[in-house]
Amino acid sequence: MSRLTSPIAPVLIIAAGLFANPALAAGDASQGESDFRRCKSCHSVDEGTNRVGPSLHNLIGRQAGTAPDYNYSESFTEAGTQGLTWTVENLVAYLEDPVAFLKGYLDSNSVRTKMRNMFRKLALRENIAAYLESITERAE
Ligand code: HEC
Repeated sequence: MSRLTSPIAPVLIIAAGLFANPALAAGDASQGESDFRRCKSCHSVDEGTNRVGPSLHNLIGRQAGTAPDYNYSESFTEAGTQGLTWTVENLVAYLEDPVAFLKGYLDSNSVRTKMRNMFRKLALRENIAAYLESITERAE
C-alpha cells in the first residue's frame, strides 16, 4: 500500500503549496486565449483596432483609458488620470464587476462606464488575464 501512495504524496504537497500561494499567477494563458471569445464582440487585441470597446493591445502595464482614438466614458479617463494602470491582479478584480471596481477606485457612487459585463468565474478571469499578459510586449 505504501508503495502505491508514496509517489503521490510529494505531488499533493507541491499542489497544496501552489494553491496556498496567491502571489503565483494562477491563470492558464492558452485556455485564456479561447476564453477571450467572451470579449471579442467588443474588443480586439490588435493595435489600433477599437470596436465597441477599446483595443486591448499591450494591456498589462498600460494606463487605463489610453487606447488611441477611443472615446472613453468620463469615469475611465478619470481613473487613468488618477493612476489606474492595468495589472493581472486588478484586471481580475475589474472583470468581476466593472462598475463596482470603478466605484471603489474612484471612491464615488456615481460612476458611468460603457462596460457593464460581469464575469463571475474566477478561473475564466484569471485565464483571460494570463492570456493578455502573455501577449503584452514589454519595453525593456
Ligand atoms: C458588450 C461589450 C463588451 C464586452 C463583451 C467586454 N467589454 Fe471590455 N469594455 C467595453 C467598453 C465599451 C469599454 C470602455 C468602457 C468605458 O469607456 O466606460 C471597455 C473597457 C475595457 C477595459 C479598459 C481598457 C482600457 O483601455 O483602459 C478592459 C481592460 C476591458 N474592457 C476588458 C475586457 C475583457 C477582458 C472582456 C472579456 C472578459 C471584456 N472587456 C468584455 C465593452 C465590452
